[in-house]
Amino acid sequence: MKGALLYEGKAKKVYSMLGEEYQLILEYKDDATAFNGKKHRIFPGKGQLNNKISAHIFEYLHDQGIPSHFIQQLSATEQLVHQTHIIPIEVVVRNVATGSLTKRLGITDGRSFENPLVELYYKKDELNDPLINDDHAKLLTGIQEKELSFLKEQALLVNEQLHALFKKMDITLVDFKLEFGRLHDRTIVLSDEISPDTCRLWEKGTNRKMDKDVFRQDTGDLLEVYEAIWQRLKEDIHV
Ligand SMILES: Nc1ncnc2c1ncn2[C@@H]1O[C@H](COP(=O)(O)OP(=O)(O)O)[C@@H](O)[C@H]1O
Ligand SMILES: [Mg+2]
Repeated sequence: MKGALLYEGKAKKVYSMLGEEYQLILEYKDDATAFNGKKHRIFPGKGQLNNKISAHIFEYLHDQGIPSHFIQQLSATEQLVHQTHIIPIEVVVRNVATGSLTKRLGITDGRSFENPLVELYYKKDELNDPLINDDHAKLLTGIQEKELSFLKEQALLVNEQLHALFKKMDITLVDFKLEFGRLHDRTIVLSDEISPDTCRLWEKGTNRKMDKDVFRQDTGDLLEVYEAIWQRLKEDIHV
């Protein structure tokens, strides 16, 4: 049974699970935010879409041998997860250049990388989630060298699996952000969400954006593209 509200983030509410000390309920909200919360709008139905998209992706990854915090979907907007202590590092994998990378390094938008790039960002809203290197990550979070290597390896494995999944849906996985956390026994597992809020997805052929960039850039109907992602994803029979 759902317990107390422990934390409210920009996209999800976190509740305790009564009788299960090390489990949580994540409730996906209808809010869309961008530019570190400066742009905000409510899209009725977004929470349900991201809940089922994220649940489907975690199940898929589980079937491909990649563990995560995900236990099961509980309702239209809720999922049950293992509680983790989130490591405040956002791990980003990029297959195609776009967004901040093109601005920071002058790389042409749309350039594909033969080898995916892995980047680390410090998850801290007050600092605008700055790009950091391994030394900063160790200093700021106390993470060990071998744990950092594990995070990057897992992120690249997730990339391989998601790239293959979206390819079948005629979608290019441009980039995505992952969060990891420590379980009660300190084991590190993939946590948080994987959804069009946290991935960039471009339709093959048209390069139509099918992710949160339609909200960031006001170029389309967020609910329509998230629904289209769900329709394609649910056709996937992956085992
Ligand atoms: N398994 C988990 N255990 C504990 N916290 C989690 C878990 N998965 C995700 N979280 C955290 O839940 C919070 C709410 O998510 P979200 O609304 O996306 O937050 P944010 O505003 O930081 O993006 C975030 O701090 C996220 O890191
Ligand atoms: Mg978030």
